[in-house]
Amino acid sequence: MAGPTRPAVAAEESAIARLEVLPASEWARTVAGWLIVRLEQRPDLRVCLPTGDTPSPVYAELVAAEWMENASLAGATVVLLDEWLGLAPGDPGRSDVRLEDDLVGQLQGGVRRFARFAVDGPDGAPLAGAALAAAVAAQDAEAEHLDLVLVGIGGNGHVGFNEPGSTPSSPTRAVELEPTTLEGAVARYGAAARPTGGLTLGLDRILAAGEVWLLVTGEHKAAILREALEGPETSACPASFLRRHPRLTVFADAPAARLLAAPGQA
Ligand code: GLP
Repeated sequence: MAGPTRPAVAAEESAIARLEVLPASEWARTVAGWLIVRLEQRPDLRVCLPTGDTPSPVYAELVAAEWMENASLAGATVVLLDEWLGLAPGDPGRSDVRLEDDLVGQLQGGVRRFARFAVDGPDGAPLAGAALAAAVAAQDAEAEHLDLVLVGIGGNGHVGFNEPGSTPSSPTRAVELEPTTLEGAVARYGAAARPTGGLTLGLDRILAAGEVWLLVTGEHKAAILREALEGPETSACPASFLRRHPRLTVFADAPAARLLAAPGQA
């Protein structure tokens, strides 16, 4: 592994375009390189991170850089973007398990704080009522004053678990998930059971962060990325609302960007 590509900080504002299209082979290193820049600028960075197949290679780069002492998250607060409901503690499909495995648990210096949704009832029973509301409220409080939010995009345009129907003011909440999203937990992330729903930071919190990065890779995301960036802003594609953020950067690899009308000028 050659290590993250470290951009020159001085060139930052001009170098970082609203849409950054990168060769697939350089995508993860470049995104990790920018994340390292943000950590250097603000060692106590408050960053919201997603899980999934898209960000995993970025985390691998970051872990390698941290082991080489080229990066540190020891002062950073990491806030988990979303979580499934109905999966047992330790289930490999769980978002907290995945982020622990991909990043947090791999770091020599750890993180200052890893804030995750408290979805486990004392007896393993599914959360409901006041306990569920408390888990939502606690994670929402962790997500106040975020410096940076990284998100992926679902095949249906979701951001976190802000599924179609969500609006820019949708709060942090428990959500029903679309069948394709639920199936993905088992088929794509190895969950032992089909989840019953999800918890997500709201689009309101995401849009209130200092900066937002949308991470998109692969040809299979090309059509939904075009919808998100070039279609109307609509609840049918919640990711389209990310364009309202004044400091949105889209990091797409070339296969994901192939249907965009004007790559480089989103
Ligand atoms: C999942 C998660 C999102 C994730 C998105 C894309 O269902 N809830 O947080 O960003 O869908 O996942 P992937 O990167 O695996 O394609």
